[in-house]
Amino acid sequence: MNSLIKQTKKIFTERFGKEPEWITAAPGRVNLIGEHTDYNDGFVFPMAIERYTVIAAGKSSSAESTVFSVNQNAGKTVFIDGSAKPADTVTWSDYVQGTLQNCVENGAKLQPFNAVINSNVPLGGGLSSSASLEVATATLAEVIAGHRFDPVQKALLCQKAEHEYAKMPCGIMDQFISALGQKGCAMLLDCRSRVPKMVPLDDPSVAVLIVNSNVKHELTGSEYPDRRRQCEKAAKLLGVPFLRDAAMPQLESAKPVFDKEPDGGVCYRRAKHVITENDRTVFAAEALSGKDWKTAGRLMCESHISMRDDFEITVSEIDTLVDIACRLDGVFGSRMTGGGFGGCTVSLIESDKEAEITAAIGREYETRTGIKATIFATTAAQGAYSVS
Ligand code: GLA
Repeated sequence: MNSLIKQTKKIFTERFGKEPEWITAAPGRVNLIGEHTDYNDGFVFPMAIERYTVIAAGKSSSAESTVFSVNQNAGKTVFIDGSAKPADTVTWSDYVQGTLQNCVENGAKLQPFNAVINSNVPLGGGLSSSASLEVATATLAEVIAGHRFDPVQKALLCQKAEHEYAKMPCGIMDQFISALGQKGCAMLLDCRSRVPKMVPLDDPSVAVLIVNSNVKHELTGSEYPDRRRQCEKAAKLLGVPFLRDAAMPQLESAKPVFDKEPDGGVCYRRAKHVITENDRTVFAAEALSGKDWKTAGRLMCESHISMRDDFEITVSEIDTLVDIACRLDGVFGSRMTGGGFGGCTVSLIESDKEAEITAAIGREYETRTGIKATIFATTAAQGAYSVS
């Protein structure tokens, strides 16, 4: 992390001929369990990871504000006077612009600045690179304006930027954990009350292993909004405000209603995933806080099967990764993490077997798919902060 900050500072100094005045950082996240439950008012259990988006910034000598992305090797002028509007086609700078606009609309008075953005969160890999960019930007707006947002408000205004400027109707999980994560803890979040419960996850005998499949298979790009709509429809058929409010017996007795729908049982399966996933998430958080790794791992594996068969958001490479991991000695559980259709898996493992497990997954995945995975272990990291 320090090296990413150092590198970002150096790039800023080279571009602008002076040291940056402000530096902010916000992490990516991995979700241990609780997938596609956030926009159903349910439970999620993510933790921040040791991968960050860092922004180094300083006052601009003109009236113009600019941002330069090291990852994109591209720069852009941004507006800080509240005059920005969402663009038709989405590019990386829209996440920044949308967040700045929402910060300004919520009372942050910005002065013109130049910024360099640098990230080691894998882009588009399902580890919330976009939320980390939004939250790092909002944290920058806070330090420039000397205006602290309530952290929950900060997460919400970043989510709004993603809805409006990135046109992605996401839930609240990613921005929330990036803004409010705590070192050494995973976070059980009730997305209805928005009250987080921090669960210590710092036992040295277990590790969280992230495996990036390095594939992304969205067919139309509308897979996520489609799932959201199907969940809303299922809630309507059940007569509840959100799927969070339904239980399995209720879904079972409403099955004849779902069977009459022309969707071939799709909404029934979506509801089944969400209802069972909410329960698994609460149980898994309990199991982890009691250091019952086996139960937590079993729930992770069940979550994967539910995402594969009922929510239908996994792809064959991801299923292969989970299959490989679950057969290995020292793996308690493994599942896909994030929105789906590729990206990463998360596994809970015995930390003294990390090297063997990493090697075995890498080897077998390449044999079975011809693709090289990127694998790293992470501890639960700190949420967004500014470096003074
Ligand atoms: C994406 C969204 C989140 C959440 C997950 C699925 O990461 O941004 O809000 O819905 O997918 O759990």
